[in-house]
Order: sequence, then C-alpha cells, then structure tokens
Amino acid sequence: MEFRFNVNEVFKQPIVEINSSLIPPGLSLADKRALWDAVSKVSDVVNAMGEASATAQGLTKPITTSDRLRNSEHKLYLLIDQNANNGKGAVTGMLKTGKKGLYVFDRDGHHYQVQPSCVLDFYIHETKQRMGLGKKLFEHMLTKEQSEPVKMAIDRPSDKFLGFLNKHYSLNNPVRQIDLVTNFLVFSTSIIV
Ligand code: ACO
Repeated sequence: MEFRFNVNEVFKQPIVEINSSLIPPGLSLADKRALWDAVSKVSDVVNAMGEASATAQGLTKPITTSDRLRNSEHKLYLLIDQNANNGKGAVTGMLKTGKKGLYVFDRDGHHYQVQPSCVLDFYIHETKQRMGLGKKLFEHMLTKEQSEPVKMAIDRPSDKFLGFLNKHYSLNNPVRQIDLVTNFLVFSTSIIV
C-alpha cells in the first residue's frame, strides 16, 4: 500500500515494530515537530492497513486502528517494501499480537484460565499474497517474541490463515473450544502450562 508521504523516511527497516506510543523505531525524540509528524504518519498507516485487513476478512469494522493500538499493550509489526513506489516505499503487511485472558478447554473438556500470546490481526496486501511475505513477517514476530506457532492462540482465523498455518507449520488439528463467544483457536494445550 502506497501513501502520499515517503514511507522510507518514517520506517527505516524492512520490518518495524510499533507499540502504543506509535513512535517508529530509530526516531530521535529530541525534535518534537518531527516526532509529531512521524506519529501522525504512523497513525495513517495503521488505520489504512487496519481497514484493508478488515475488508480482506469480510469484517464490518477494523480490528486494528491507531486509537485501539494507543490504548493497548499490543505489538504491531509492519512489513515495508523499501523499493516500491519509485523508492518512496510501500507498506506490504501487518501483524498484530498481544496477550489475552482466555478460558481454554483441553481435549478432555477441562477448562483453564490462561493468558497466552495471541495473533490478533494479520494481513498481506492483495497484490503480494502467496509470495512468502506472510511467512517472513510471521517468522520475524516469532523470533522477536521467542514463541512458537503452536503456543499462540489465534483470534477468528480466516480460511487463508488456516491454510497458512497448515502449510508452514503443519498445524491442522485445533483443540475444539466450547466457549465460542471469543472465537479463539488453540492448537495445543501446551499454552496452558
Ligand atoms: N487462498 C488460500 N490460501 C491462501 C491464500 C489464498 N488466497 N493466500 C495465502 N494462503 C495460504 C496458503 O496456505 C498458501 O500456500 P499455497 O500458496 O501453497 O496454497 C500460504 O498461505 C502462502 O504463504 P505466504 O505466502 O507466506 O502467506 P501470505 O503472504 O499470503 O500471507 C495471509 C498469509 C496473511 C493469511 C494473507 O493471505 C492475507 O492477508 N489474507 C487475507 C487476510 C486474512 O485472511 N488474514 C488472516 C485473518 S485471521 C487473523 O488475523 C488472526
């Protein structure tokens, strides 16, 4: 996704991590004007990517907005194509993670109160899907969070994401959850311990 501003001036690396501050990594905090300008641009990116992800998933409203990110402890990873848009760069993907308090059922129907790391929102731009970019972004997140796919709960996974998890991580046998209100998917009760 392209923006009216130079994406490469805001995001200096091919994958950047944004938190509730919305301050892009590597920015000097001394120059207040530059800081406000960058935060405003990050906010535009988060809102646009959140909208696109919601549309791709057929949701009526975005799960990810800059306001929601500000008021959370979630992490948002953005994938940048630094060569796109005549060298101005483009944002190609987004992956949001965070901890959630959940009741999780094991295969025997016993339930446990846990707080696993969750995949909350995941999107690769339509023109770039099925090229391995989702895997690249997901692997980066796993390294940063020192986690494994099997240990993460997934919020309302789409068919595409289920295919992704099966293809790359052989995850295809979720533990059936009786509490359908939250719609989280769990692949192993290893998140319980
Ligand atoms: N149809 C079916 N499966 C797909 C599709 C598709 N259009 N796109 C990706 N996949 C799955 C397949 O298993 C595919 O392997 P294959 O091409 O051999 O069949 C595999 O993902 C490809 O892996 P990557 O190229 O690494 O994945 P990609 O860059 O496409 O990113 C993602 C995967 C994020 C699911 C992307 O397809 C996407 O943005 N989809 C639309 C939004 C979406 O469904 N997001 C997940 C919502 S659930 C959540 O966020 C918790």
